[in-house]
Formats: sequence, structure tokens, C-alpha cells
Amino acid sequence: MDQAKGLRDIAKTDVLARRKTHMPSHEKQYPRVIAVTSGKGGVGKTNIVGNLAVAMSRKGMQVVIIDADVGLANIDIVFNLRPEYTLRHVISGEKTLEEIMITTRHGIRIIPGGSGFANLTRLNEGQKLTLLGEFESLADQADIILVDTGAGISSNVLYFNAASDECIVIATTEPTSITDAYAMMKVMSKEYKTRYFKLIVNMTESEKDAKRVFGSLSNALDKFLKDVVLTYLGHIPFDRRLQKAVQKRSLVLDEAPDAAAAKSLETIASAILHQEKSDHTRGNLTFFMNKVFQTAT
Ligand SMILES: Nc1ncnc2c1ncn2[C@@H]1O[C@H](COP(=O)(O)OP(=O)(O)O)[C@@H](O)[C@H]1O
Ligand SMILES: [Mg+2]
Repeated sequence: MDQAKGLRDIAKTDVLARRKTHMPSHEKQYPRVIAVTSGKGGVGKTNIVGNLAVAMSRKGMQVVIIDADVGLANIDIVFNLRPEYTLRHVISGEKTLEEIMITTRHGIRIIPGGSGFANLTRLNEGQKLTLLGEFESLADQADIILVDTGAGISSNVLYFNAASDECIVIATTEPTSITDAYAMMKVMSKEYKTRYFKLIVNMTESEKDAKRVFGSLSNALDKFLKDVVLTYLGHIPFDRRLQKAVQKRSLVLDEAPDAAAAKSLETIASAILHQEKSDHTRGNLTFFMNKVFQTAT
């Protein structure tokens, strides 16, 4: 290990120790960490994360996106960026978080997870401490952190859902997407005691469609998982203009702000920001990463 790195590590440890002993959490406004997840892949998570980030940053929020989809990480594609480094370089000590983050032209900062999140259980204590310190430095730079978790009930997806302040589940009207969304919430509630979820129904033909999906998920939860609370956040219509934007490696909010999907995404972004004051508890980022590590052991 080089000497500078050694000193950096010591400084980080010091920061963490100070935080534990002297800094009550109310002194600081910590970012709100929101996981966007789904049971099934291809339901629109990455587009939803990207567009919500754009809508929120237009409303003056400082937004950071963590691309934690180990399988099909593609947040960089919808922003037409090519990250050179990923979190793997932070874990190995080659780069700082600051150095791997890329900033979009909207001012949104993206953390490319790459394969860095792939083996959280195998990180040693030093690597965990490095990551904790690096993530702590984000606290000053973000109001909202959106985590694109990837799909399914693989352990990494679950760690991020469990560690975030809030968990938004994306489903479509397809039966498989609905049953997989249910399966995801079931595992989260059984294994991590997560009780609150928010639902976005994507690629709908009408609001009625979306309400039907919400209804069937709510019914199943009422019957089999009584302590889980699902709230309805909104729906996004099926919209070819969103697909056209994807083909241009772009986002519908940039390409066609008057498209129906763009308007829905803006409404949902406002709803999320509006809910902030009333109904969520906010940890800090060390707490967030610590929770990721704890669930990953
Ligand atoms: N509202 C929508 N209307 C039409 N097509 C959509 C919509 N949302 C997503 N898609 C299509 O689904 C594809 C997958 O979306 P993506 O955001 O990559 O999903 P995920 O991240 O869940 O795998 C997109 O490339 C796009 O073609
Ligand atoms: Mg994706």
C-alpha cells in the first residue's frame, strides 16, 4: 500500500470515529436514499431513474445516481456516457469516489457500480471502511440519491433495497411482472423486515390499468403479508417517444418533454419530492453503507 493511501485511510477512520462520537445526526441534512427496483427485468427501471433524476434536478435538487445493477448496468447508456472507472477502482484503492463519478450535462452525478458491487460479502474490513468513508463524503453533495438496483431477488438487489430509506417497486401490467413484484416484496418483508413500498406501474394503456395492477398487488398483500404497506405513486403510459429517446441514448424528458410519458414522470418526481417532509425517516450515508454491509454478511 502506498503511503498516501495509508494516510487517506487513517483520515477516513478518523472521520468515521468523529461522526460516531460527536456529531448528532440532526446537525446535518442527509440525502434521501431511494431504491428503484423490480421483480422482473426490462420494466423500465433505468429509464425511470434517469428521467426522475432529470426532473428532480430541474427542480433544484442535487441528485446522485448509484448504478447498482450488477447484471445489466446501463444508466450510462441513457445518459450517453462512457465511464472509465467504476466502484471496483474505489474498493481497490486506485481511485476515490470523486474520481470515478461522472457528471451529466444536467449536473446529475453518476456512480458507476460496475462489478464493484458484485461481491459485497467478500470485502475485507479495510475495503469496507474505504467505501464507508467515500460514501460519507457524498453527504454534502446530494439531496437525493437514486439507486438503480437491478431486478430480481438476487442478494445484491435485496441489500440495496433494505439499506435505502425508501423502496420504489416498478411493475408493468404483465402478469409475470406483477407476480415477480409480489415475490420481491415478500422476500424483502420476510428477510429484511421491510414494510413500506411504493409502486409505479409502467407502460400502461390507461390509469385504470395501473389501478388494476395496484389492486391485485394490494389484495395479495392484504391476504398473505398483512404487515406490508404498498402505496401507489403513479403510472407511466406506454410511449413510443420514450423508446425513440432510448434509441438515441437519451431520455424522454430531454427529447420530448411534452410526451405523455415525460409528463407522468414529472408528476411522479413532484409527488416523491412532496412526500419528503411527511413520511420518511432519514439515516446518514455511513448508516446506509453499513446497512448494506450488515445485510451482506
Ligand atoms: N413507458 C414506456 N413506454 C414504452 N417503452 C418503454 C417504457 N418504459 C420502458 N420502455 C422500454 O423498455 C425498455 C427497457 O427499459 P429499461 O429502463 O432499460 O428497463 P430496466 O432497467 O427495468 O431493465 C426500454 O429500452 C424501452 O424500450
Ligand atoms: Mg436497467
